[in-house]
Amino acid sequence: MVQSLWTDPSLRRRGIARELKRLGEEWARSVGATTIATNVAPKNREMILLNETLGFCVDSSPSDPPPAGYVRMTKAL
Ligand SMILES: CC(C)(COP(=O)(O)OP(=O)(O)OC[C@H]1O[C@@H](n2cnc3c(N)ncnc32)[C@H](O)[C@@H]1OP(=O)(O)O)[C@@H](O)C(=O)NCCC(=O)NCCS
Repeated sequence: MVQSLWTDPSLRRRGIARELKRLGEEWARSVGATTIATNVAPKNREMILLNETLGFCVDSSPSDPPPAGYVRMTKAL
C-alpha cells in the first residue's frame, strides 16, 4: 500500500513521482507481491493521472474499502 506521495511544487513534471513509484513496485515484486494499491481522493486529478499512466485502475469493489472520501486504485505486478 502506497500511503502518501508528494513532490515539491518547484520540482514537478520531472518524473520524480513516477520513479519513486517504479522503485516501490520493484521492491514489492522482489518480496513476492502480486498487486499494489493506493488510495486517492477523487478530486486529486494529478495523482489519478499519474496512477493511470502507470497502469493503475480504480477498484470499484475492494475487499477492504478505502477510508471515506477516497477511492482505491490497484495494479497487477
Ligand atoms: C501527483 C504528484 C505526486 C506528481 O508528482 P510529479 O513528480 O510531478 O510527477 P511526474 O513528473 O513523475 O509525472 C508522471 C506523470 O503523471 C502525470 N501527471 C503528473 N502531474 C500531472 C499534471 N499536473 N497534469 C497532468 N498529468 C500529470 C503525467 O502523465 C506525468 O507524465 P508526463 O510528465 O510525462 O506527462 C504531484 O503533483 C503532487 O505532489 N501532488 C500533490 C500530491 C498530494 O496531494 N499528496 C497528498 C495525498 S497522497
